[in-house]
Amino acid sequence: MAAVVEVVARRRRYRMGLMLVFLGLFMGNALAVDRSNFKTCDESSFCKRQRSLRPGLSPYRALLDSLQLGPDGLTVQLVHEVTKVVLVLELQGLQKNMTRFRLDELQPLHPRYRVSDVLVADPAPARLSVSGRDDNSVELTVAEGPYKIILTAKPFRLDLLEGRSLLLSVNARGLLEFEHQRHRRVPFSDKVSLTLGSMWDKIKNIFSRQGARDPAEVDGAQPEAAAGDGDKPEEPTEREEPGAWEETFKTHSDSKPYGPTSVGLDFSLPGMEHVYGIPEHADSLRLKVTEGGEPYRLYNLDVFQYELDNPMALYGSVPVLLAHSPHRDLGIFWLNAAETWVDISSNTAGKTLFGKMLDYLQGSGETPQTDVRWMSESGIIDVFLLLGPSVFDVFRQYTSLTGTQALPPLFSLGYHQSRWNYRDEADVLQVDQGFDDHNFPCDVIWLDIEHADGKRYFTWDPSRFPQPHSMLQHLASKRRKLVAIVDPHIKVDSGYRVHEELRNQGLYVKTRDGSDYEGWCWPGSAGYPDFINPATRAWWASMFSFDNYEGSAPNLFIWNDMNEPSVFNGPEVTMLKDAQHYGGWEHRDVHNIYGFYVHMATAEGLIQRSGGVERPFVLSRAFFAGSQRFGAVWTGDNTAEWDHLKISIPMCLSMGLVGLSFCGADVGGFFKNPDPELLVRWYQMGAFQPFFRAHAHLDTVRREPWLLPAQHQEVIREALGQRYSLLPYWYTLFYRAHIEGVPVMRPLWVQYPQDVTTFSIDDQFLLGDALLVHPVSDAGAHGVQVYLPGSGEVWYNIQSYQKHHGPQTLYLPVTLSSIPVFQRGGTVVPRWMRVRRSSDCMKDDPITLFVALSPQGMAQGELFLDDGHSFNYQTRQEFLLRRFSFSQNTLVSSSADLRGHFETPVWIERVVIMGAEKPATVVLQVPGSPESHLSFQHNTETSTLVVRKPGVSVASDWSIQLR
Ligand code: GLC
Repeated sequence: MAAVVEVVARRRRYRMGLMLVFLGLFMGNALAVDRSNFKTCDESSFCKRQRSLRPGLSPYRALLDSLQLGPDGLTVQLVHEVTKVVLVLELQGLQKNMTRFRLDELQPLHPRYRVSDVLVADPAPARLSVSGRDDNSVELTVAEGPYKIILTAKPFRLDLLEGRSLLLSVNARGLLEFEHQRHRRVPFSDKVSLTLGSMWDKIKNIFSRQGARDPAEVDGAQPEAAAGDGDKPEEPTEREEPGAWEETFKTHSDSKPYGPTSVGLDFSLPGMEHVYGIPEHADSLRLKVTEGGEPYRLYNLDVFQYELDNPMALYGSVPVLLAHSPHRDLGIFWLNAAETWVDISSNTAGKTLFGKMLDYLQGSGETPQTDVRWMSESGIIDVFLLLGPSVFDVFRQYTSLTGTQALPPLFSLGYHQSRWNYRDEADVLQVDQGFDDHNFPCDVIWLDIEHADGKRYFTWDPSRFPQPHSMLQHLASKRRKLVAIVDPHIKVDSGYRVHEELRNQGLYVKTRDGSDYEGWCWPGSAGYPDFINPATRAWWASMFSFDNYEGSAPNLFIWNDMNEPSVFNGPEVTMLKDAQHYGGWEHRDVHNIYGFYVHMATAEGLIQRSGGVERPFVLSRAFFAGSQRFGAVWTGDNTAEWDHLKISIPMCLSMGLVGLSFCGADVGGFFKNPDPELLVRWYQMGAFQPFFRAHAHLDTVRREPWLLPAQHQEVIREALGQRYSLLPYWYTLFYRAHIEGVPVMRPLWVQYPQDVTTFSIDDQFLLGDALLVHPVSDAGAHGVQVYLPGSGEVWYNIQSYQKHHGPQTLYLPVTLSSIPVFQRGGTVVPRWMRVRRSSDCMKDDPITLFVALSPQGMAQGELFLDDGHSFNYQTRQEFLLRRFSFSQNTLVSSSADLRGHFETPVWIERVVIMGAEKPATVVLQVPGSPESHLSFQHNTETSTLVVRKPGVSVASDWSIQLR
């Protein structure tokens, strides 16, 4: 009953119809997360056990005699001095300044889960050699790497040094805790019925199996609860606190057949005070110290009405943390897909800047240090240390392991119009027409769960969507697309082909007893395809063929929601941890990667349906490390409140830092109704965030832009216009993210690593290295304080062309239509100046180059162009990558990648140069043609020069000289 209670309480605002039967029970309506539905660390038995271990000397010792060094790295055994359980450490130097180590049991009772499919390839090893040795340590040198690794045997730790400076230590605080698998001890109730003799035999057996000794002999990091227990043989070293085997949460019980299996480890980062990453949390960009509070949790969950500024888990997890100091950047990638918690502590936490300065002046301060502790419920310890040295190196290192952002089809960078739900085909066509009638651009209309026949995905409601194909064709004639939702819970219904095939082929997740697992979700009782199984993924992908997915068409793309997976009647609204997956793995082992596999199989399906020619677009709510390869993600069910508008910045910035560039938040807010001002501000924010989709809950009032008062409509039109005119820049940034792994939307500190002021900025961001955006996110704002970084840098207001020097905090008065955006002097930004119905209508339009000169009179930029939708840029080199550079009064266009060729009608129609003196004449030079003079206009007040109609093809080399 309580399970039902939980479901109803959580979803009461969602599905009035289906849930009506329960509704009488729960009428409360406060818009805030029900925290009691989700575990705290104390309620998650492994987190509690791990966290109860305090820093001290590690009980692990490396057995240096067992050390073996081969071309792929080193292996050495570690023994736990108390339990005598042996672990194996595999340590590798990797190319590109990375190190990897793995820790597993030497003889596990059952194999432990190792994450697969996240790494794009086996990382190339860099040879390790022993460069020094004494009784208790080994010094290792990494070929071509500037760093050394020191392995200390007792107590076990690893130190990475560059020259004489310590970069990072592993297990320096002795928090390595590897709960080895064990046979279950006899529960106390059984024990009392045993004779004393047989009980003692039993205990002896356990001891001999696990080789345990009296813990009192060992002086090491100890669990608080275990301390002092050593003299009681009937309570030996194995800690079997409540929850170590069966564990219950609310009414849900987890059978935990393998008992306690968690792993934990600490990392010390000397010199580091600023850490970032480990999304997804609705929290500040810079991670907070967690001592005395809850750790950050990584466990993909469908959190109803999530709260801001806290470390609770959300829909996705990327176990990657970045550490930043003005001199160095590092990354830690903890490759584990089980429930994970991350604790952060710092020796400078709580000290004011003044206090730190005083310490510094008096020479009394310690070196700042951040310590990070990871704790996962199962699996092995598999860690990549990304050693920078710059943050851009860390980006490249991480994406060389997990892949880069998929290059999105151009349309998907346009504006997306969604709501739960567009009622029927007529509604969709009216919305489509509304954009044209009111002169707003739009690329995509979205259909939520109500479009399908009784939430049977891959089908259409026969009365409301009887002719999906003609609806799609109509949209195609407008050069627009449709996105339909396909969730990974499948209605249990013997008349539904999708269910029947999955069931008959044995492709569903199973319960412990081997029957198909069923949970409760949108369609009622539902099965969950086992996406861990490659056969399920192949089957799922085949479902997107035009034959299998009836009514689909090439302009239909897909949205995967609820793929945490969300199970309304499951513990914490997700799947039971002892559910069974392919390969004998428990759901516990693979939970955080389930959504990744759904996203992967769907993207693969869209690729296959076009015979491998077309690029897919798939939006996913759940994600894991590597999800960037499959498409876009969004921040889930936010609320129409100003604070939710604000938090979209740090949430998407955090994802960008760990590879997921294609991020957005529901424009307008999912729950509740935004007032016109908030909606306008949200459009302005969304127009400058990578994934730009308006979306809203079923119960909200309609809010298509033309339904607003005229003055607000006009402002939204301008915001959409800004987005569409910048599409060539967005597309080029995504190409860079795709090629190099650098984020599209960036925190300021990434570009200004030494400017301490930028380290905690949450209300503005950079797009690439050229545009700085500070959207207005306060009700009734009359002005904003914009921080313009960079000494010696200049910034041009893109509206007024007014120039400002960095670094400074600029007060900028704003009106409702203001979106404060600045272009950095030294950059070139390409734009399309005619805003049309959709991006597809604009892709052949001429380009205007916005050249913002640095104080030295220089600028650089680039432009990527291809057909906007296929893989031909890759398979046939059909693309253009043009470089524009301005120096010595000359703007030169050249190819930045000579491999690419692409036939295009696109030409350069205008060049706007900010910060230019008035020239006497402007001359165009094209190789093989005579010089020609171009007409121009100069504005002395803003020092802006507009050069008209160079008329050259974007594909050709040319130069424009100001004389
Ligand atoms: C989930 C999604 C939301 C969607 C709804 C119905 O709450 O996060 O975007 O509209 O389900 O499918």
